[in-house]
Amino acid sequence: MSIIVTGGAGFIGSNFVLDWLAQSDEMVINLDKLSYAGNLENLSSLQGNSSHQFVKGDIADTNLLVALFAQYQPRAVINFAAESHVDRSILGPGEFVQTNIVGTFNLLEAVRAYWGALPAVQKTAFRFLHVSTDEVYGSLAPDAPAFTETHRYEPNSPYSASKAASDHLVRAYHHTYGLPVLTTNCSNNYGPYHFPEKLIPLMIVNALAGKPLPVYGDGQQVRDWLYVKDHCSAIRRVLEGGTLGDVYNVGGWNEKPNLEIVQTVCALLDELRPRADGVSYAEQVTYVTDRPGHDRRYAIDASKIERELNWKPAETFSTGIRKTVEWYLANESWVANVQSGSYRDWVTANYVERQA
Ligand code: NAD
Ligand code: DAU
Repeated sequence: MSIIVTGGAGFIGSNFVLDWLAQSDEMVINLDKLSYAGNLENLSSLQGNSSHQFVKGDIADTNLLVALFAQYQPRAVINFAAESHVDRSILGPGEFVQTNIVGTFNLLEAVRAYWGALPAVQKTAFRFLHVSTDEVYGSLAPDAPAFTETHRYEPNSPYSASKAASDHLVRAYHHTYGLPVLTTNCSNNYGPYHFPEKLIPLMIVNALAGKPLPVYGDGQQVRDWLYVKDHCSAIRRVLEGGTLGDVYNVGGWNEKPNLEIVQTVCALLDELRPRADGVSYAEQVTYVTDRPGHDRRYAIDASKIERELNWKPAETFSTGIRKTVEWYLANESWVANVQSGSYRDWVTANYVERQA
């Protein structure tokens, strides 16, 4: 038995692969293009583990997909592969259309051909799980109820629009062809191996480097934060017991404004690695020009997955954020290695034009 995981060298995908192989010896075929966000160092602890087969390749590469399905005969595909950063989608949306829409389409076509030819027992057992985001639902007013699975789609960025398109394709393949699909729409993740272009790791690495902590706009945008390993456990639960064709929202019941997140990170660093001059890292906070089209608030109503699949997050925000800051302090060489030339080019492209 085996599963194919796409995007398993990225932030959530690598946490998923590590957690999977810590709990099971079922083989994982990890298909990842190794974009700027893919990092084999995340998986270095699996060296020599024959249950992990890494394949460098693109989910849009139909010939490769056909060959992989024929060789490994997986019982499930879990699709993490995507372009994932909203700011990059604003500066260059083309890659998002290519991977998130065309790539997911090509993957679905290859899965449909493979699944359609399976013997009856394997055909019934097969699952395609698509990992998506709460951003497809758009922005919430301050007092609006949290997103349920029936909230209408109102994506506002090229990233969320491309993810919404992929969700619609996945849904259509179930309704039209009967493909046994499951979709998860999750809120903001944080934790180990988070690429330091995203809010929490960016604030940790900038703080330690003595750099400004760039808060977009007034810093009062609200996100619902979930520790990455809780997202991974939710995906495993949906894979095991989810109803075919259904959508499951995944979140931490943990809404917080960005400024509070940044202040919490600073307070933890003040405790664990105080600045030499005794001043708080919070002094480095700098308000910069807002993200165009910035969604004001996301919040997930995760009652369906709790009610139907008995899933709840194990971490609170205070336990998860402490683990996260401690992980970055203990893994400074990982941080140094990902801050390559292309990372520096991104920082210049995204931040130099933003006025303080
Ligand atoms: P990430 O950017 O850290 O990782 C994406 C991975 O996909 C990388 O390893 C990259 O190399 C790979 N990849 C990109 N294009 C590919 C292609 N064409 N073929 C094969 N591999 C490709 O992203 P992440 O934060 O780990 O997110 C993973 C998934 O979860 C995405 O689908 C994202 O939309 C979704 N999601 C993320 C969050 C979050 O907070 N990070 C929340 C909800 C949902
Ligand atoms: O909600 C789920 C989504 O969460 C995922 O689908 C995306 O893949 C993931 O990147 C994340 O999107 P966000 O845009 O919410 O995450 P990001 O870390 O980029 O930003 C979080 C908030 O912090 C957002 O309101 C923008 C703000 N921000 C971000 C950066 C990078 C800043 O204020 N300053 C910054 O420098």
